[in-house]
Amino acid sequence: MYTVRKVTEDLFWVGGNDHRLALFENIHPIPRGVSYNSYVLLDEKTVVFDTVDWSVAREFIRNVESVLDGRDLDYLLINHMEPDHGGSIEEILIRYPNAKVISTEKAFLMMRQYGFNIDGREIEVKEGDTMTFGKHTVAFVEAPMIHWPEAMVTFDVTNGVLFAADAFGSFGALDGKLFNDEVNFDRDWIDDARRYYTNIVGKYGPFVQALLGKAGGLDIKYICPLHGPVWRSDLGYIIDKYIKWSTYEPEDKAVMIVYASMYGNTEYAAQALATKLVEKGIKDVVLYDVSNTHVSQLIAETFRVSHIVLASVTYNLGIYPVMHNYLMDMKALNVQNRTFAIVENGTWAPKSGDLMTEFINDELKLCDVLNEQLSITSSINENDERDMEALVDAIVDSVNGKR
Ligand code: FEO
Repeated sequence: MYTVRKVTEDLFWVGGNDHRLALFENIHPIPRGVSYNSYVLLDEKTVVFDTVDWSVAREFIRNVESVLDGRDLDYLLINHMEPDHGGSIEEILIRYPNAKVISTEKAFLMMRQYGFNIDGREIEVKEGDTMTFGKHTVAFVEAPMIHWPEAMVTFDVTNGVLFAADAFGSFGALDGKLFNDEVNFDRDWIDDARRYYTNIVGKYGPFVQALLGKAGGLDIKYICPLHGPVWRSDLGYIIDKYIKWSTYEPEDKAVMIVYASMYGNTEYAAQALATKLVEKGIKDVVLYDVSNTHVSQLIAETFRVSHIVLASVTYNLGIYPVMHNYLMDMKALNVQNRTFAIVENGTWAPKSGDLMTEFINDELKLCDVLNEQLSITSSINENDERDMEALVDAIVDSVNGKR
């Protein structure tokens, strides 16, 4: 009848899954859907931790009602106000008129901006405050810019549950499987978790590091994010990923070749480069056509790999527009600490190589561009062999740490 899952003693997942939404935030494709997580604590007082997107509100309300089983709701605790979580606040306030709302000053301001009537119901909390609901005492930890300014996380000091807001979340619907140990996360979820983090939170690495620093002082046994699986084992796995992502350290010594090709000639050069890299022992080589790969996936791979080859035609004496969009996204999401290599193509005036190099040097932090560059006129031929070999050797040496 209901989609409720018990998380631990007194705590229940009451969220919802959406397989209908094509684009998260109307921009990022989510072919595996998405979950909106909400939790109910049954103590001497009853508490709902965050709500859900309006699209799954009906399912959410049914779940809340079933867990409360006739009890009134005492508190609605809001860690994050983005509408994929705050969208059902009013629904809860109307159905449970005695419920007080616990949140931060900035979140209350946003609630009013979104038109919610919370007058007389606010309990404003800040970093270091605690509240007791009976057996359970929670502590509030501000988490600004993860990834909105009002965000906080809440730690239940009684059972070690961290209500992590958007941190440690992932794209992908749960479909009955709630815990990380009920799925093969490293096989089936990590790509979506990385794509979620890098595109939603990636810009704010220093703020994530600050939160990780605070979390390091907590005895966390469960991580309950607002999207994706609940972590109750192997917490080090996901925390290690967050350390790498937030410090912009590559996960893997790997080469991603992103090419922009109009008629297949630059694509052929990219394939030739990939072939030679693999022949020389670089096994983790991935190739993407910038025109048919969503930029959110390119960004996720950019955070994973150590080396990126940009291979672009020249277009209107500039960088191919879709490649330029990828570069702009890298800048927006604060990509740094990567090594780039450049391949350019142009039939009469190849320009994209210099322009991409200039962009990387001027707009991205702590990034290098290898000196060796391949400049093609129309299509690769035997005259390009020496430059191709030099580029391959430079990439291989760089991946292997020899330069
Ligand atoms: Fe999942 Fe920032 O909302």
